[in-house]
Amino acid sequence: MSDARHLLFLVASTRAPGTEGNTEWLAREAARALPAQARQDWLHLAGLQLPPFTDLRHSAGSYPPPTGDLARVLEALRAAPEIVFVAPVYWFSIPTPLKLLLDHWSAFLRVPGLPFKAEMATKSLRLVCTSGDRAKAQPMVDSVRLCAEFLGMAWGGVLWAKGGAPGTTAQDAQARAEAAGFLAQPVPRA
Ligand SMILES: Cc1cc2nc3c(=O)[nH]c(=O)nc-3n(C[C@H](O)[C@H](O)[C@H](O)COP(=O)(O)O)c2cc1C
Repeated sequence: MSDARHLLFLVASTRAPGTEGNTEWLAREAARALPAQARQDWLHLAGLQLPPFTDLRHSAGSYPPPTGDLARVLEALRAAPEIVFVAPVYWFSIPTPLKLLLDHWSAFLRVPGLPFKAEMATKSLRLVCTSGDRAKAQPMVDSVRLCAEFLGMAWGGVLWAKGGAPGTTAQDAQARAEAAGFLAQPVPRA
């Protein structure tokens, strides 16, 4: 079995296709520090057809295996030991495409025969994030960290930079320097 690293980048910006946002720029800058043999999977969540989430916990009690793009994301999640959320701050919170996927994690926990929780507990989660103000990004950072803790995932912290119009973060020398070390090593387990 290969011991090469394998990372899944889940991009949650809603920029129009073909426009690279600040957050993706920052994540790709961080990914430049990865070893050449590291596998990188990038998924743009806003471009996927994810169904609405329905809370069946106290009615059906379980969920059928997902299909379509939701199944595709689930398989990508299961395959990658290192998960990286690439998400701008929207209204002090998690952007809709990523929030919708996280809601579906509640379903993944209840698909008969799917060991989602046990598998996620072997993985790490990191957040790459941009917004106008670091202090006001903290509620979103805390939300993602608490999701990691809930699933027993190793929390690898946040890489944040000031965003704005596309290209803003690319002008930020400090962001570039901080990005260089963010993904350099796998997240150690506590
Ligand atoms: C719907 C929406 C809500 C936003 N809410 C916030 C916010 O609460 N706080 C903030 O500092 N910036 C906010 N922003 C600004 C974005 O976080 C910022 O422009 C970010 O760099 C965009 O990332 P992107 O270029 O990767 O798409 C918001 C932008 C949008 C489109």
